[in-house]
Amino acid sequence: MNTKYIIHSSNRAFSSLDKVLSGKAYNDARYFILCDENTYNHCLPILISHTSRLQESEFLEVPVGEEAKTIDVAMQLWKTLLDSNADRKSVIINLGGGCISDLGGFVASAYKRGIRYINIPTSLIGMVDASIGGKTAVNIDNIKNQIGYIHQPSAVVINPDFLNTLSEKDVVSGYFEIVKTLLLCDKSAFQSLLENSDVSDDIQAIKKMIPLCVDFKKSVVDVDPTELSIRRILNLGHTFGHAIESFFIDNGDAISHGLAVGYGLLCELYLSVKKLGLSDSILKEYCGLLRRFSAFPRLSLRDTEQILKFMRSDKKNADGNILCVLLQDIGEPVIDIALDELEVRDALLAVSKL
Ligand SMILES: NC(=O)c1ccc[n+]([C@@H]2O[C@H](COP(=O)([O-])OP(=O)(O)OC[C@H]3O[C@@H](n4cnc5c(N)ncnc54)[C@H](O)[C@@H]3O)[C@@H](O)[C@H]2O)c1
Ligand SMILES: [Zn+2]
Repeated sequence: MNTKYIIHSSNRAFSSLDKVLSGKAYNDARYFILCDENTYNHCLPILISHTSRLQESEFLEVPVGEEAKTIDVAMQLWKTLLDSNADRKSVIINLGGGCISDLGGFVASAYKRGIRYINIPTSLIGMVDASIGGKTAVNIDNIKNQIGYIHQPSAVVINPDFLNTLSEKDVVSGYFEIVKTLLLCDKSAFQSLLENSDVSDDIQAIKKMIPLCVDFKKSVVDVDPTELSIRRILNLGHTFGHAIESFFIDNGDAISHGLAVGYGLLCELYLSVKKLGLSDSILKEYCGLLRRFSAFPRLSLRDTEQILKFMRSDKKNADGNILCVLLQDIGEPVIDIALDELEVRDALLAVSKL
């Protein structure tokens, strides 16, 4: 399926969406808009008042954050869809951050063997990453994204103005997904990020980076939609990042996905220096960037064993090895680097002292 991408600041994004929904493919479609409490309050009124085709929609509300990404919540949504007689022409509109698009995409993927969904990301992570590429998932026992499908959205509609109500914590979270993208594709953009100390809290500067991130992810997913090869580069920072995220959720002290990825990037840059000869200056520059974030978590020796436990269940593992993406240089990722447990412990301990 060809996903239609619409990126416009301001309500032009919604008039473009109206045009898409006026097409023949959407004749007789019913729309179910999935929100959490925050997007219900901050984003739904804006969307509905500017998209005439969605004015008759039905609304589905789920808990905020990872609490929504469970099979129980998915089951409740399937039952609601059935009770509402939603048929195969129905479309789920995911209005929210990555948790909403992961959950809503998952529900759409399985309902009646797959119905369409449209992502309208409202968080920075959603706009630069989660809404693109068709990965959908729920968690099991705090282990992230264990059950899911790759099912492409019919459209992705990005209006960066939604970010105006996003909390600072969630802006910082999305910021690290942008850093990941720049490390993968653009040396000069990464350097300018380092030089511009305001960029981590300047929402206008951040908004300008959204199209670059969307184009890069789109170009990778187009070549390898099912992650057989090159798409795996997008997991940079996530082998460690997901395990660190699961660790903090499990300890009842959840940190944002992006902050966990920021920590994961630190571990993986450290290993890139050790194993692939990445220049030490890049690791140092990245450490300098992290010092701008006072809320950055610290890990103790005891934590490393628990994180290792989560890393052993990573979907990317093969033949008992923990597999990871590392960098030879900015813009030169290498996939499927096998790590043994000593290397993982070494990285976790070393970075906690940096
Ligand atoms: N499928 C993928 O390719 C992919 C990629 C990256 C991340 N993810 C997943 O995305 C999730 C993280 O994404 P996230 O941080 O967007 O999560 P999220 O959906 O929990 O959103 C973060 C917070 O921002 C709030 N929010 C969203 N938009 C808002 C707005 N405009 N105004 C005010 N508040 C708003 C939400 O209610 C929530 O509290 C993780 O579960 C991660 O695994 C998926
Ligand atoms: Zn991520």
